[in-house]
Amino acid sequence: MELVSCYPLFLLGLLSVSLAYVEPPTNVTLRCHNLHNILEWDYGILLPDIRFKVTIQPYSGSLLVFWVEPQELQLDISSLSDSGNSYYLEVIAVVGENESEPAPRKGITFSYFQDSLTRQKCSLDLPPVNVTTEPYDHVQYRFIHPWLWHHQTLSDNPNPKSRQKKSNDAPTKNQLPQFSYAVLVGSQKKQHYYSCVKPVCEKKIPVDNAQEKHCLNITGEVDRMAVKSTQLYCAMPLMPPEENSYIIYIVIIMLILTTTLLVIVLVYKKKTRASTPFPTSMVCS
Ligand SMILES: *[C@@H]1O[C@H](CO)[C@@H](O)[C@H](O)[C@H]1NC(C)=O
Ligand SMILES: *[C@@H]1O[C@H](CO)[C@@H](O)[C@H](O)[C@H]1NC(C)=O
Ligand SMILES: *[C@@H]1O[C@H](CO)[C@@H](O)[C@H](O)[C@H]1NC(C)=O
Ligand SMILES: *[C@@H]1O[C@H](CO)[C@@H](O)[C@H](O)[C@H]1NC(C)=O
Repeated sequence: MELVSCYPLFLLGLLSVSLAYVEPPTNVTLRCHNLHNILEWDYGILLPDIRFKVTIQPYSGSLLVFWVEPQELQLDISSLSDSGNSYYLEVIAVVGENESEPAPRKGITFSYFQDSLTRQKCSLDLPPVNVTTEPYDHVQYRFIHPWLWHHQTLSDNPNPKSRQKKSNDAPTKNQLPQFSYAVLVGSQKKQHYYSCVKPVCEKKIPVDNAQEKHCLNITGEVDRMAVKSTQLYCAMPLMPPEENSYIIYIVIIMLILTTTLLVIVLVYKKKTRASTPFPTSMVCS
């Protein structure tokens, strides 16, 4: 009898729990690349008054809270690109005062600092590289300084937060941060290490001329961020102008030689022809 009377109470409890239960968001993903960071998630059935709360805890700094309307399901957090910091975030669905469990279960940790211990590490792409063949087994490459390249493309969307650098190696107004990089040429084992603080990074490097094509793989680091090449950049098989004029000289010399030879032959022939009638005239006399 006691058990039976308890039953409706138990059911009521279950009912109120299920009513208050808010499904957490699914598939929470962060794409962070080239100082552009987008957080996205999915959600099953959108209840009328649902909203999403994104909480972000920087390693240094105070908790940030963003509210996102259900029609969005994403948040641009490009302002959180400080390579001197790292971030922990989670997404919560909120209906009235009821909140879902945070998603993903373990949260997302990310940073642009290449040696950070976060699960997600964000990086920069190397700008396009021009490679040209030079005489005497060299190639020349040129590319825009990665920091300049990525902050130029961001200039439509100024991002003062990412410029707040705390460390003393921070770039000042007119100085670019040092880009330290390694160049790997084709299948050569040896890497060449260089650095660049100029708006355009360029260098002439020796190559093994046994190879027909010279492809460069450039990877490096700027302001503690990893800079990766999305492709190999290869030397244009163009003939440098010096070699072109060299061939022209050879052709000219050959022409002069053949002309002189022709003249010599003609003169010789004329002489021999002039001397052939000689014996007959001798006979006449
Ligand atoms: C989550 O992502 C996976 C793979 O990207 C996809 O198969 C699945 O349908 C997504 N789930 C939801 C609820 O959208
Ligand atoms: C949770 O949601 C239920 C149903 O929507 C509502 O009755 C209850 O008051 C909410 N609880 C809180 C703490 O807001
Ligand atoms: C690379 O070559 C293209 C086409 O010749 C040119 O427009 C571009 O400015 C060059 N880039 C650099 C960094 O020199
Ligand atoms: C460039 O070299 C790195 C190792 O130094 C390698 O991980 C990467 O895959 C190479 N990139 C390409 C495009 O081959």
